[in-house]
Amino acid sequence: MGKKVKIGIIGVGTIGSVHAEAYAKVPEAQVVALCDLLPERLQEKGKRHGVTRLFESYHDLLADHEIEAVSVCVPNRMHAPIAIDAFKAGKHVLLEKPMALSQKEGMAIVAARDAAKKVLTMGMVRRQSPDAEVVKAAIDSGKLGEIYQIRIRLIRRRGIPGLGGWFTTKGESGGGGLIDIGVHFFDLAMWTTGLWNPTRVSAKVYSKFGSPMEDYHYISMWAGPPKFDGTFDVDDYAAGMVRFGDKATLSFEVAWAANAKDEQMLEILGTKGGLVVGGDTVLLTEVDNMMADIKLNFKQDGGGFPQEMAKFVAAVKGEAEPPATGEQGVIAMRLIDAIYASSAQNAEVAV
Ligand SMILES: NC(=O)c1ccc[n+]([C@@H]2O[C@H](COP(=O)([O-])OP(=O)(O)OC[C@H]3O[C@@H](n4cnc5c(N)ncnc54)[C@H](O)[C@@H]3O)[C@@H](O)[C@H]2O)c1
Repeated sequence: MGKKVKIGIIGVGTIGSVHAEAYAKVPEAQVVALCDLLPERLQEKGKRHGVTRLFESYHDLLADHEIEAVSVCVPNRMHAPIAIDAFKAGKHVLLEKPMALSQKEGMAIVAARDAAKKVLTMGMVRRQSPDAEVVKAAIDSGKLGEIYQIRIRLIRRRGIPGLGGWFTTKGESGGGGLIDIGVHFFDLAMWTTGLWNPTRVSAKVYSKFGSPMEDYHYISMWAGPPKFDGTFDVDDYAAGMVRFGDKATLSFEVAWAANAKDEQMLEILGTKGGLVVGGDTVLLTEVDNMMADIKLNFKQDGGGFPQEMAKFVAAVKGEAEPPATGEQGVIAMRLIDAIYASSAQNAEVAV
């Protein structure tokens, strides 16, 4: 094992702590600094993760020359400014999803990466789950044949995060469930199938549950209790269809809240086989002229955030390519921009 890569984490809320715990499992990484605007949280997280260099301003963390790489774990509005400043300061960046508020911001991040000649990887952790790797391997080895349709159902019955806080304020988040959780499955669908050319989209987003906030009945409220004096101006349900040229389509439903059963499902249809991801991972195919449902087994341990961090650190050390590229992040943002545009215009639009 060579020298440890020195890491700073910017934003130590829910996911910043998940990053700190994941880096602790990577022998080549050492978290040496944390940053958060909230002094009490910063002190508490410093103690929890055993980190003593604590900064209230991310500019001060970026000025620390010992830090080689940063995890950016702040609300979405701050992704682009902090990532761009990090590249200007010569750091490598692991940027949480969604990449930014828009494709335009995403492209500015990629330009800053290129100017700095540093590593950028997107926090697309869903790709790092063991089932995703098995699915990609099955597709890459031709088990599906020609892929022509993908279906995503990503439904929370009541799962709006931090009602009234930054997640539900469009200026801070860029949107609701679509950009928050939809981005994981759009990325997963495009990465597993290799269909990175969304061309047109027809979609509608709705906002039916978050307002008035007092009427929202939830069982548990993760990301903190509701702030009834806060804002809810984002989508809680989105549905639509994406075209990939004239060869393939993707239909989706993504909900933070809906009167429907909780579900996380990705279905991929090909000429030789179909795949269902979510619950059991099953390949639906034909064997010796018989219909066969083949359950794909995969390691139950491993993957997830520690694997994401290990791959990021390997990329920083020049030993591997980044596990999810900025260019792919930009495509996901372009698709999400187009979905919101289609909904606003009530029409099919170009991606
Ligand atoms: N990969 C995943 O599965 C996953 C899961 C949850 C959240 N996320 C993403 O992680 C990011 C953070 O989400 P969260 O749930 O941790 O939010 P959070 O509100 O729990 O934490 C964000 C933290 O950033 C701090 N912060 C805000 N502005 C800052 C600034 N300018 N400088 C320093 N610190 C600042 C806040 O004080 C807060 O502590 C979001 O982009 C979210 O989409 C990803």
